[in-house]
Amino acid sequence: MKKRVLVTGGAGYIGSHTTVELIEAGYDVVIVDNLSNSELRAIDGIKQILGVDIPFVEADCCDKVAMTKLFNDYKFDAVIHFAAYKAVGESMALPLEYYQNNIGSLITLLEVMRDSKVNNLVFSSSCTVYGQADVLPVTEMTPRKDATSPYGNTKQMCEDILNFSTAAYPSIHGIALRYFNPTGAHPTALIGELPKGVPNNLVPFITQTAAGVREQLSVFGNDYNTPDGSNLRDYIDVIDLAKAHVIAVTRLVEGKGKANYEVFNIGTGRAVSVLELVETFQRVNDVKVNYKIVGRREGDIEAVWADTTYANNELGWSAKRTIDETMAAAWAWEKNVRGIK
Ligand code: UD1
Repeated sequence: MKKRVLVTGGAGYIGSHTTVELIEAGYDVVIVDNLSNSELRAIDGIKQILGVDIPFVEADCCDKVAMTKLFNDYKFDAVIHFAAYKAVGESMALPLEYYQNNIGSLITLLEVMRDSKVNNLVFSSSCTVYGQADVLPVTEMTPRKDATSPYGNTKQMCEDILNFSTAAYPSIHGIALRYFNPTGAHPTALIGELPKGVPNNLVPFITQTAAGVREQLSVFGNDYNTPDGSNLRDYIDVIDLAKAHVIAVTRLVEGKGKANYEVFNIGTGRAVSVLELVETFQRVNDVKVNYKIVGRREGDIEAVWADTTYANNELGWSAKRTIDETMAAAWAWEKNVRGIK
């Protein structure tokens, strides 16, 4: 019997790629998404890649009635909870919406899981939980700093909720994956990152600028204490990231975890600067990105990248794709979206 995984936010960027990897690994998937920051195009893309229909339920994970019905309609072996708001800047202006949605959906999901005896949850966490760490790269044991945004705080709070809930309900097991900066797209260019409106994140802004949708990329600061003065991040390919979820789900359903609640860094271990990333994109794709260096963006941290030793050893997972491959995939996807040959 195939194991069935509920993917919340499965029409979103990471959720859609993870759905493809789960199906290819032999899982059944049901997607639930309220389409608040995603489009049915992703569901179509998934179907085109796989050649099969994936059950899709349009519902909000904070809606307990809808979630209870979903858990009555299907028997799940595991849940991956992607559905959340994720824009740092927006969260500064809309803190209550962020706390309500990101915390509310996790609590609702855990309640419904507990009541329907679904015991395995993989949670989308983020390197944002570390804040600006004193020592780099960060390991899972690196102390968390105070969050600098409501978004980051919701990720910290969700991790705490998981920690205490898996202790209180020992049949529930959780894994939080702390993603670094996810980027890239599926090699078919049929799914990828599709932000609504003006992108907040670097790579969609780069690809849209190259495509002529945006006039100019602003590089936020070149006066940081880094080799070229721009911020350092760890850009993890979305396919590598999706595969980490398959491994985490398998670890849970096979009962191979070392504790009720586990945390893993999911990154490459490579620090790449904003300027390096722009240059790599231009070189690999032979396109020009019009950019200008402007002042720092409020709330940005100077540098963060992952020590991935624990995920490498314990999950047997490591990032495989090179930054060149990732930048090529990001551009192929943008060209597909814009109809550029
Ligand atoms: C942040 C969070 C991350 C979260 C993500 C969600 C941290 C360390 N990271 O990522 O956990 O999942 O938001 O959106 O808190 N940049 C430009 N020009 C642009 C856009 C970005 O120069 O137009 C620069 C930023 O200054 C930064 C880098 O590119 O140095 C990456 O920015 P972005 O893609 O927004 O991600 P983070 O802020 O690192």
